[in-house]
Amino acid sequence: MGKALVVVDECTSTNNIAVEMAENGAPDGLVVIARTQTAGRGRLGRDWCSPRGGIWMTILSRTSRPDYMTSLPLIGALGITKALVDTLSVNARVRWPNDVVVEGRKVAGVLAEAKSAGDQLTHVVLGMGVNANFDTKNIAAISQTSTSLSTILGHQVDLAKVISTILETLERLLETLQTRAGTEMLELVRLLDSSRGTHVQVKTSKATFDGLLVDYESLTKVRIMTENGPVIVDTDSVLSVDYQSD
Ligand code: BTN
Repeated sequence: MGKALVVVDECTSTNNIAVEMAENGAPDGLVVIARTQTAGRGRLGRDWCSPRGGIWMTILSRTSRPDYMTSLPLIGALGITKALVDTLSVNARVRWPNDVVVEGRKVAGVLAEAKSAGDQLTHVVLGMGVNANFDTKNIAAISQTSTSLSTILGHQVDLAKVISTILETLERLLETLQTRAGTEMLELVRLLDSSRGTHVQVKTSKATFDGLLVDYESLTKVRIMTENGPVIVDTDSVLSVDYQSD
């Protein structure tokens, strides 16, 4: 991962560059990094603020496994979380479905976008945004819900070190996912998760569920206890998640 590496000062979105390069034959593991994005995007077409000082990066994965694709956002969030805990001793946690939070505030997010030909998946781009060396208090759109590594730690972080640790961690996690059952990965998710035991309101394309997020059923499904009993929600169907503390 990262043997093919593109670093740009500014772009619309690193996902756009990775998709274009994927269509021109770029290899599995390509990493695209930008210092700033002018049209960064989050899940559900939301804008993603990408000022200088952040880590805006996309990894190209060539896979034909749809199960792998649907697990990627959670694995991406897990990789970032583990890297932040291990290298910076930050109290980072995964927040289902694709966030990394510290004390309930978002510090990173993941956006996977897939391309298929017929019913064959050709590639997935996994975009990751980490609020690193800038102050989210100065950005109205995210000042109430997000934080950054420099705010948490009180000093700037070494971006190159954080990036390389995220990539190494993610590479190991993806190897585990390829070679072993998802159960091992699920144990690690549970260890670093902050979502279980919290009240959520989840909107899917079909319904809205209010209740307690009880546990992960798999890497792509969670169980929510509602007034009317337990429901299993597939990450893929989720339009929005509101946490009680949000
Ligand atoms: C989310 O939490 O909604 C996902 C945010 C993903 C942001 C990253 S930054 C790098 C890559 N390029 C983008 O335009 N988006 C992702």
